[in-house]
Amino acid sequence: MISKSISKNRSLSSKKRKPYLNWMMQTLRWGHVPSVAQAQTFEDHAQAIQDHMLFLSDNMQAVSENSLKTLGIPSWMMCGIGDQATSEEKFKHVMAFFQQASIYLRMNLYLVKQEVLLESLIEDGVSFERVDDAPYALMLLKKIQIQATKAYKKGWIDIQDVGSQWVVDQLDIQDAYVVVDGCSRTGGKSFAMQNTLRSGAVIHAVDVDARVFEEMKKRASRQEARNIKMHWIGTGEDRPLEELENKADCVLVDAPCSSMGTLKRRPWLKFAYNQSDIENFSKMQKSILTQQARWVKPGGQVAFAVCSILKAETFDVTRTFLDEHPDFQSRSEHLLYPDQTQGDAFYIHVMNKQK
Ligand SMILES: C[S@@+](CC[C@H](N)C(=O)[O-])C[C@H]1O[C@@H](n2cnc3c(N)ncnc32)[C@H](O)[C@@H]1O
Repeated sequence: MISKSISKNRSLSSKKRKPYLNWMMQTLRWGHVPSVAQAQTFEDHAQAIQDHMLFLSDNMQAVSENSLKTLGIPSWMMCGIGDQATSEEKFKHVMAFFQQASIYLRMNLYLVKQEVLLESLIEDGVSFERVDDAPYALMLLKKIQIQATKAYKKGWIDIQDVGSQWVVDQLDIQDAYVVVDGCSRTGGKSFAMQNTLRSGAVIHAVDVDARVFEEMKKRASRQEARNIKMHWIGTGEDRPLEELENKADCVLVDAPCSSMGTLKRRPWLKFAYNQSDIENFSKMQKSILTQQARWVKPGGQVAFAVCSILKAETFDVTRTFLDEHPDFQSRSEHLLYPDQTQGDAFYIHVMNKQK
């Protein structure tokens, strides 16, 4: 809200908006530090943050788990990471959330040859870097109005965090004909799948929020994705889309979550939830996963993903699902921690359904 009101404030020149927006984001990240909170000017504010970061890096060992409170990290979040990580690892994960995320593009290489695309970006003054282990990702080195580039207008690129791209890379969909993007929102992951899917494959994009489909249609038209069928379902529906039951080669359940994995981009989220909200997310995720796994055909797979690193929203959800559904077996399970990426953290568990 604040960022929108700054962006729309006509009394601020665009030159002034930038430092205000930057100041706001940094305050959300570092406002718990007294010297940052008390700074009177932009310069003092920036200096206080820099000094504090230096202090932390010099005293990493001394800043114990107990003092995380002084870093503005709620204790439920630290505990919520669970016992799969040691205290030292947890500390590293949490500290990584204080970095600023990089901005990433996804190349749509089903529309254009890579050399042509990269040349076009360079001609338009985009400065970027390839990303290890992310075959379609480019990291932006300088902010730019990407929508004005030829590559964007032609649908050759899209803006998508590298963590989201990583989730799609974990799916085994090269030979799939029927794929369901069960919590699609405006289709980011459906579009990313186009790079891998064979021709003739169909994606069913499903969401309970009818408003997402207008934007998805626009994105689909720009990126020439003609194989996406959109379905609105009601939240209260017991067995939505019965016609898809036992039909899908792969169902991706990119479930609603606390989005704790996106704290680098959305630092305010650490103030948004408490322990009982996390428990409610966990319950909802178990129920959505159970509901959508019905669409998987024998021999197919369901992939549960969330942009969270909290145990209740990750390991606990899929453990319960596997315990209650003996016809599904774990195939691969990964957590991309915030200190392993400059983008969002994500969890994914791919599970096979018996033939
Ligand atoms: C994490 S977002 C999905 C992000 C999306 N996959 C992407 O890559 O941009 C979760 C989405 O799930 C939707 N959702 C919530 N409850 C649902 C349900 N029971 N069935 C299907 N979708 C649901 C929300 O409306 C939201 O759009």
